[in-house]
Amino acid sequence: MLSKVNKIIVTGGPTREWFDPIRYISNASSGKMGIALADEAFKLNTSTVFIHGPISEHLLHGKAYKMVSIESTEDLLNAVLSELEDNSVLIMAAAPADYTPVNKSAQKIKKTEGELVITMKKTPDILKNVAQYKKSRGFKNLFVVGFAAETNDTENYAKGKLQQKDLDMICLNDVSQSGAGFNVDTNIMTIFTRSGEKFDLPIKSKNEIARDILERVSIELTKRG
Ligand code: CTP
Repeated sequence: MLSKVNKIIVTGGPTREWFDPIRYISNASSGKMGIALADEAFKLNTSTVFIHGPISEHLLHGKAYKMVSIESTEDLLNAVLSELEDNSVLIMAAAPADYTPVNKSAQKIKKTEGELVITMKKTPDILKNVAQYKKSRGFKNLFVVGFAAETNDTENYAKGKLQQKDLDMICLNDVSQSGAGFNVDTNIMTIFTRSGEKFDLPIKSKNEIARDILERVSIELTKRG
């Protein structure tokens, strides 16, 4: 089924929000889950695009799929919207920074006696923007997969995000479990679908998890007919 979609768009890695020319706010995402998803997606459909934040060059080496490199959450939003088209699948494994400094100093901020306070404002929620864009542009057959990295009350938060971000599927990652989450080669996931089904994926390599996620996407698309 995935061979019939026009494009698979995968996002991965963190974003960076600079507050002076040498310092930024970011997070610990390695991009490994995103790469595993892009690798597996490319095996099923050569029209795979991987949009990624700053991740290790060696992880990107030798990939045959299209890659788009971005830095900020705003950049990621623009890159995702420009790749969307009818009959495509979007897999949002990226970990975008949720806040960006209100002021970006053109000069290095110098150390002073007191505390340093950086005021931050919210970045755009990419998946919420995709949901609006999908409606305003009238995209047909878009299948959107979100991720939820949680430490507590995990199922409730994941199901809340599924609904609020108008997703077809969400992959919950309990990062408090060992063998799951950032900078490790394995993951443990639970998938929730729009129709209310739940699938547990026990600890596996990120590539095996990616394969399972894509298989689930394919099954859900087959149900749509
Ligand atoms: N996401 C997004 N835009 C953002 C932040 C996150 O589209 N600005 C996406 C992520 O790529 C992921 C999903 O939303 O697929 C959930 O991300 P997560 O960081 O778990 O949730 P947030 O919505 O940022 O909420 P919170 O940080 O409060 O848990």
